[in-house]
Amino acid sequence: MTDFKALMVEKKQDHTVNKQIRTLSLDDLPDGEVLVNVHYSSVNYKDGMAVLDNSPVVGEYPMVPGIDLSGVVEESNDARFTKGDYVIVTSYELGTSHFGGFAEYARVPADWVVPLPENLGLKEAMIYGTAGFTAALSVIRLEEEGVMPEKGTVLVTGATGGVGSMAVAMLDQLGYTVAASTGKQAEHDYLKRIGADQVLPREELQPEKIRPIDKRRWAGVVDPVGGETLAYALSTLEYGGTAAVSGLTGGTKVPTTVYPFIIRGANLVGIDSVYCPMERRKQVWDRLSKDLNVTDMLETIASEVTLDELPDTLEQILQAKVRGRKIVRL
Ligand SMILES: NC(=O)c1ccc[n+]([C@@H]2O[C@H](COP(=O)([O-])OP(=O)(O)OC[C@H]3O[C@@H](n4cnc5c(N)ncnc54)[C@H](OP(=O)(O)O)[C@@H]3O)[C@@H](O)[C@H]2O)c1
Repeated sequence: MTDFKALMVEKKQDHTVNKQIRTLSLDDLPDGEVLVNVHYSSVNYKDGMAVLDNSPVVGEYPMVPGIDLSGVVEESNDARFTKGDYVIVTSYELGTSHFGGFAEYARVPADWVVPLPENLGLKEAMIYGTAGFTAALSVIRLEEEGVMPEKGTVLVTGATGGVGSMAVAMLDQLGYTVAASTGKQAEHDYLKRIGADQVLPREELQPEKIRPIDKRRWAGVVDPVGGETLAYALSTLEYGGTAAVSGLTGGTKVPTTVYPFIIRGANLVGIDSVYCPMERRKQVWDRLSKDLNVTDMLETIASEVTLDELPDTLEQILQAKVRGRKIVRL
C-alpha cells in the first residue's frame, strides 16, 4: 500500500482548524477515475482562504487543500487517460470539497483533467496555475472586447500578486502598454522587470472621493482586486473600454454608478476559472503554451516552497506578503 504525505486541514472541537502534514494511504483519497502522482502544486489566494478557521471556500472537513496540481497519471478508469500521461488539474472542487493538490497523490474525476499541452513542463504549468490561467483568461476577454495594444494603456491592479504579475508579463509580451498598481512600495523595480511601463501606488486608485466618471486613463483593466479600486478603474476607462474583474482582495462591494456604462460605453466582464468549460479551458492552456507563455519571466515571478513551508506561505498570502507565484514541489 502506497503511503504519502499531504497537508491536511482538520476542524477541531472548538471549530478552529488545525493544518498539519499527515501520512495518508491511497484508500484515504476520494473517488475519481484518475489517480495522479502529483509533481507540483501552487499557492493561490483561495488556498489561503481554505485554511482559515471559518473558511468561506471549504465545503467539508477534513480537507487536503490545493486548488492546483500537475503530475503524471498513475491509474485511470477512463478511456481519455492512460498511465504515464502528463496532466493538469485546476479548480472545480479541487482543494475545497475534494482532496486537492497539496499531497503527493490525488484522485480526481476524469472530467476535470486537462492534458499538459506540448511545450509546457509540469513545473511551468504550476508557475501559471490558477493565477496564470485567470490572468490569461482576463487578457483573452480584453482581446475579445476589442482592447488591442494600439487602443491605449491597460491597467493591472494588485500587480505583485499571482494574477497581477502574470497579467503584467503577458500583456507586455503581447505589446500592450502596461500600468501596474501595487501597495508594495519596495516592489516597483520588480514590476518594471516583468514588463510594467508605469508603476502606480495603490492609493492613486483609491481616492477619497470616486467621481461617477473621471479623466479617461485605460483602454482595459485586469482587476483581481475589486472593491473601490474597481469602481475607480471603471470611472476612468476610455470610451468603450473593458474591465475584466476576477478577484476581491480589495473588497466585494463596488461603489460605482451607471455612468461609466451609459456615458462611456464601458464593459465589465467577469472572469471565472473555477467552472470555466473544458473546451475553453483547453484553449486557454493552449495559449499559455504559445503566445502567452512568458518563459523568460517565470524565474523572476516564481519561487518554490516545500510541503513543510506551506502553512506559513498560506498565512502570508492572505496578508498580501507574497510576491508573484509560489509553487510547491511534491
Ligand atoms: N475569478 C477567478 O476565477 C479567480 C481566479 C484566481 C484568483 N481569483 C481571485 O483573485 C484575487 C487575487 O488572487 P491571487 O491568487 O493573485 O492572490 P495574491 O497573489 O495574494 O494577489 C493579491 C494581490 O492583491 C493586492 N491586494 C491585497 N490586499 C489588497 C487591498 N486591501 N486593496 C487592494 N489591493 C490589495 C496585493 O497586490 P499589491 O500589493 O501589488 O497591491 C496582493 O498581492 C483573489 O481575490 C482571488 O480569490 C479569482
